[in-house]
Amino acid sequence: MAKILDGKALSAEIKQQIKTEIEQDNLKVGLAVVIVGADPASRVYVDNKKRDCTECGITSHEFALPEETTQQELIELIEKLNADENINGILVQQPFPKHINVTAVNETISPLKDVDAFRFESAGRIMAGKYSFLPCTPAGVMELLRAAEIEIAGKECVVIGRSDIVGKPMAMLLLHENATVTICHSRTKDLPSVTKRADILVSAVGIADFVSSDMVKENAVVVDVGMNRNSEGKLCGDVKYAEVSEKASYITPVPGGVGPMTRAVLMKNTLSAKKLQS
Ligand code: GUN
Repeated sequence: MAKILDGKALSAEIKQQIKTEIEQDNLKVGLAVVIVGADPASRVYVDNKKRDCTECGITSHEFALPEETTQQELIELIEKLNADENINGILVQQPFPKHINVTAVNETISPLKDVDAFRFESAGRIMAGKYSFLPCTPAGVMELLRAAEIEIAGKECVVIGRSDIVGKPMAMLLLHENATVTICHSRTKDLPSVTKRADILVSAVGIADFVSSDMVKENAVVVDVGMNRNSEGKLCGDVKYAEVSEKASYITPVPGGVGPMTRAVLMKNTLSAKKLQS
């Protein structure tokens, strides 16, 4: 039976450390949380991030804009936030309404306030291993592996999913730790034959029940980045948890695995942003 990689507990520790540092150094730290439209999942994520801010002693400033907000209006808001000394980090919750160009918006965020690390410059810095801000989800996964003292160097790591937000930077962070990394995607041939090679398997697909135990090597570490709803509307990951946890050595639950770690790294990045700016 797999040991649980408990993101809820680890994120609570990290948030406590952040709170202590903010209190000891008497820092005033602010995060702008921008949400456009009324996507219910985004609303939940934004509310969670605001709650994390409160727990850390970070002031969250919410900007909830209507669906019909124009790209220009959103860009003008970000320019204002770039210039605002009370705002140390800017987060614009994705997905955006279709009429707004993601790149145009993200590239407007000041490099010193890019706490999601979504700008091209931040992505390039991740490639080079010389970053100010770590990408939140991949960095959260790395913290979980580190806390459990799971060796990465020399290990076969397989990432399923090649998104700019998770799959690609995840592969890069594992590579920086000297893993042998394979990225799989929808065009990968014979996916199970590849995933079965993995000592560490990271799934970031976004499809419930995608990873079954026949795709997993005995004693593999299985990290589930998926955030899906099953047919009953219940939150679940990409991994068939019941059967895979019988075979894996470690596994992340959903909820309570990677999700809270993503948000803990966001809090860390916001504190780093404050220090960078002062
Ligand atoms: N949508 C899904 N995950 C994220 C995230 O980490 N940051 C932002 N801004 N939007 C998201």
